[in-house]
Amino acid sequence: MKRYRITGGYPLDGEVRIQGSKNAVLPMMAAAVLQEETVELKGCPKISDVFCMEKLLQVLGAETEWERDTLRIRCRRTDGDLSEEKTAGKLRSSILLLGSLLGRNGYGKIRSPGGCTIGRRPTDLHEMALRSLGAGITRTGTGITAYAGRLSGTHIRFPKKSVGATENAILAAVCAEGTTVLDGCAAEPEVQWLCRFLRSMGASVEGEASGCVMIRGRKKLHGTTFCVPPDRIAAGTWLMAGAAVRGNLEFRRAPVKEMQAVLEVYRKMGGQYRVAGDTLFTDSSRVGKAVPYVETAGYPGFPTDLQSPLLAAASTLSGRTIVRETVFEDRFAAVRELIKMGARAEIRGPVIGMEKSRLKGTRVTAGDLRGGAALVIAALAAEGSTEVEQVQYIERGYELFPEQLERLGARIHIIEE
Ligand code: UD1
Repeated sequence: MKRYRITGGYPLDGEVRIQGSKNAVLPMMAAAVLQEETVELKGCPKISDVFCMEKLLQVLGAETEWERDTLRIRCRRTDGDLSEEKTAGKLRSSILLLGSLLGRNGYGKIRSPGGCTIGRRPTDLHEMALRSLGAGITRTGTGITAYAGRLSGTHIRFPKKSVGATENAILAAVCAEGTTVLDGCAAEPEVQWLCRFLRSMGASVEGEASGCVMIRGRKKLHGTTFCVPPDRIAAGTWLMAGAAVRGNLEFRRAPVKEMQAVLEVYRKMGGQYRVAGDTLFTDSSRVGKAVPYVETAGYPGFPTDLQSPLLAAASTLSGRTIVRETVFEDRFAAVRELIKMGARAEIRGPVIGMEKSRLKGTRVTAGDLRGGAALVIAALAAEGSTEVEQVQYIERGYELFPEQLERLGARIHIIEE
C-alpha cells in the first residue's frame, strides 16, 4: 500500500500547473460512446478515475489511445453491458454510461457505481430522468439495467439539483426523438462544459447556465477534438494549500471565473491575489484571520468539494471558522482525522467549527479524494512528520500531487510497501 510521509513547516512557492478537470472529462468520456467516430480529448488529466473510465470504455468495445496528454476514444460498436465489470463500482461517474448507452443502443447494463464515501449517494434522480425519457429501469442485486426502444423527448423537473443526474439526462436526451426540457438542473461549470462538448459533436443543447436545459434530439452525432478545461477544484485545493503554509503560488491557466466563491473566502482570510490574463498570482503572507461563516452550495456557491481543504487551512487561522455542509450528509471523515493531528474542531450535525490549532504530525488515513487532499494540506502546516495512508483516494483526482508539492518546496516522500 502506498502512503505519503510529509514533514511540515516548509512554505510553498512557485508555479502551479492546473490539471485538466476530472469532473469535466469523465462525462465527456462517457459521451464518446454516443457515436462511432473518434473523440479526441486534449489536456486529459492522468488520474486513476480517468484510467478507470477508460477501462470501462474498453470493456464496452471502444479503442483508446494516449499520446502524451491527449486521449483518443473510438467506439465503433458496443454491446452495452458492464454488469460484470467491477471497475464500475470504483467510480461514481460510471453511472453516466447508462445515459450514453441508452442514447446509442437503447439499452445498457452497469454495475452499481461507487465513488467516495461522503454520505448516502442515491441514484433515484438519475433513474427518474431516464424513466421519464422512456427507459425501463430495473435494479438487480449488483447493478442497474436500462432498456428503451428509442428514447422520446419530454419535460423533466428535478426536485433537487444533482450534477450527475443532470449530466445523465442530457447524455440520454441528445439522441432522443424530439425535444427535451430539463428544469431544476445543476448549473455547475462541469455541466456547462459537457454541453459545449456535446455541441462540438453536433448536439443541439442550450440554456445550461440557467438551470433550464433544452435539447433537440439528433439522430446522429459525430467525433470531435476538445480541450479539457482546467480543474477549478484542483485549483481551489492548491489555493487552500498555499493559504495553510502562507505560500506564494502562481497559477497558470487558472479558471478564475469559476473560482469566485473560493477566492472570496481566501480574501477574507487575508489572502491577496491579482489576475493577469489567465494567470492568478496569490500572496498568502497576510493570511491569518478565521472566516466567520462559510456554507457549501451548488455553483456559484462555495463548492462542497473544497469544504475539507478549507477546514485544513482554517486550522491555521486565528479565531473560529464555521462551515455548514449543505450538499452531502456525511462529508466529515477528514475532520475526524484532522482532530487526530490536534485540530480543535467540533462537528455538530452538518456544522463544523474549527479553531486555530497546533497541528502535530501523526498517522492519518484518507477516506475520500478531497478529504485526503485536506490531510496533506494539514500535514504541510503541521509540526513534525505526518503519514497519510490510503492515498489511492487522492490519486483518483490529483495528477502528480506529491511531485508538484515537492517542486513547490514541500518535503514529501512516497512510501510503497
Ligand atoms: C458531483 C461531483 C462531486 C461533487 C458533487 C456536488 C463528479 C464526478 N462528482 O457528484 O465531486 O461533490 O457533484 O457538486 O462530478 N442526490 C440524490 N439523488 C440522486 C443523485 C444525487 O438525492 O440520484 C443527492 C446527493 O446525495 C447529494 C446531492 O444530490 O446530496 C448532490 O449530489 P450530485 O450533485 O448528484 O453529486 P454527484 O453528481 O454525485
